[in-house]
Amino acid sequence: MARRISSVGVVGLGTMGAGIVEVFARGGLEVVGVETTEELADRGREILQASTGRAVRRGKLSEEEQQALLDRVTVSTELADLAGADLVVEAVPEVVSVKQDVFLRLDDVVAEDAVLATNTSSLSVTEIAAGTRRPERVVGMHFFNPAPVLRLVEVITTPRTDPEASEGVRELAERLGKKPVVVGDRAGFVANYLLFGYLNSALAMVEQGHVSREDLDVAMRVGAGLPMGPLTLMDLIGLDVCHHIGEVIYGHSRSPLHRPSTMLGRMVTSGRLGRKSGQGFYTYASAGSGEVVPDELTPADHGDVEVPEAVGVVGSSPLAEDLAGRLDEAGFRVTHVPDAGGDLGPLASVGLVIEAQEEEPDPESEPAGRDVDDLFAELGEVTAPGTLLTTVNTYSGVALAAISGRAGETTVLRVHAPTPHAQVIEIGRNHATAGPTVRTLREVVRRLEAVPVVARDRTGLVVDALLVSYLNDAVRMLDEGYATVDQVDTAIRHGLGYPMGPFAMIDHIGADEVLVIAEELYSGSAGYQPHLAPSPLLVEHVLLDQPFTEGAAAGRG
Ligand code: CAA
Repeated sequence: MARRISSVGVVGLGTMGAGIVEVFARGGLEVVGVETTEELADRGREILQASTGRAVRRGKLSEEEQQALLDRVTVSTELADLAGADLVVEAVPEVVSVKQDVFLRLDDVVAEDAVLATNTSSLSVTEIAAGTRRPERVVGMHFFNPAPVLRLVEVITTPRTDPEASEGVRELAERLGKKPVVVGDRAGFVANYLLFGYLNSALAMVEQGHVSREDLDVAMRVGAGLPMGPLTLMDLIGLDVCHHIGEVIYGHSRSPLHRPSTMLGRMVTSGRLGRKSGQGFYTYASAGSGEVVPDELTPADHGDVEVPEAVGVVGSSPLAEDLAGRLDEAGFRVTHVPDAGGDLGPLASVGLVIEAQEEEPDPESEPAGRDVDDLFAELGEVTAPGTLLTTVNTYSGVALAAISGRAGETTVLRVHAPTPHAQVIEIGRNHATAGPTVRTLREVVRRLEAVPVVARDRTGLVVDALLVSYLNDAVRMLDEGYATVDQVDTAIRHGLGYPMGPFAMIDHIGADEVLVIAEELYSGSAGYQPHLAPSPLLVEHVLLDQPFTEGAAAGRG
């Protein structure tokens, strides 16, 4: 049985180190935190004071409990004060030699069977361990920012790690109410490996002008139900840290998915490091603040927007019925043509048409339905010039824009299921879409009490393109033996605060549905993005009709 860890130390009291100290102290342990200078030690105390003070203000901690917690923490500038620690976690800068130096000095201080843990997010634990005199007592203990909130702790073992050391750390993490996942030493471990593929794809969208920074973040927070948008998250993590982790993962995978973004590199070089420097993708009230203030990229308010009073809805799908009802409630005059084969004449006087048949028409139906191409050709003739035409049906509306002869007015709408944050409706614009068209559609979406996101009309727009590529990547990770279903789902839920892990999400959406979108994305990328190729394991699960998670399997049985 592993030795029970009861006294702990932390070296380095930046954001992560101070957060780790707080986790230990909240768990009732005596903690010694060590910094190199009095000034840095004071900053560590301030971080701890501010974080626990916030908990007091929110009524999560009484003042007495806060004081008791702070009393369990000793802050020092002497490594020698760690002599009694069963475990020391280092959270010093991400430089192998700096970390090895800390461990070499600790070798002379701590007991022989004490465990030395690194909170590295990007370096090889094996390499750090190899430079110490006791590699068998070295493990990774990787926390997630903010450490007091996020429950995942990745416990990373190397080929030399004594199982007793890793088991002791795992048991401690569990005792602290955390969710430990024991994994091997691979680039990005589990959570960062998946996270950084997704962040890189999101970055590429902004870099290529596919979507604005605000719309991208709204799409993923509100539309996909994630706790934060990707750019806000990168600003929180620190752009220098993101850049470094990204390079390490790319060095390992060599996949175009992880190819480092040149934009990110330039931002780091120019000193835009995210919240900590006061400027990253957004501008903050001051260095270290999380309060976003307007800057030159903040969308301008265009004042009053012209919105049509009369709107047409075509189709009898549940979505068409829902939209017609909501438009009516929002005060629009709605002309609903349930049958796509029906008379389109009444649409002559509307200012916006939403085509929402969802399914291709049944050729046997009476009167015979028009297919979507014929429908748009006729809409182009029947409706007045300037009428906006939209489709919820296809992944790209460009062909319909050509068919209707209304390039500037034909767009795609993608209506997402509501999340606890709200509902997103994406608007896919093409090359010819005029500014006023976009502004009108944004306003119509707002009047439906949904949140608009505007992106270029490319397969999957933003939400599906990012989410499905991430889900496919999770399956590839499983297929390559990187981690198990349970490890990945636990890591993503508790390390990144997602409402569910990727495998639970695939089972929730349906692997067949995910595969259809993955295939669309891959064919839409014209082979330029090989990582979008659907994972063979995903195909296998669809063909064999097998869920990924036990919960889903039990639900079926
Ligand atoms: N320290 C301590 N507690 C904090 C905190 C901090 N820095 N920030 C927020 N909290 C607490 C709040 O006090 C609040 O607690 P209660 O619910 O007990 O009242 C709770 O967290 C929620 O906070 P807010 O209501 O202020 O804000 P929110 O709901 O928007 O949550 C968030 C903020 C916790 C940061 C949330 O958005 C989140 O989980 N985001 C995801 C962050 C993420 O993905 N982190 C991982 C990054 S990757 C990494 O760290 C690994 C690496 O190697 C780089």
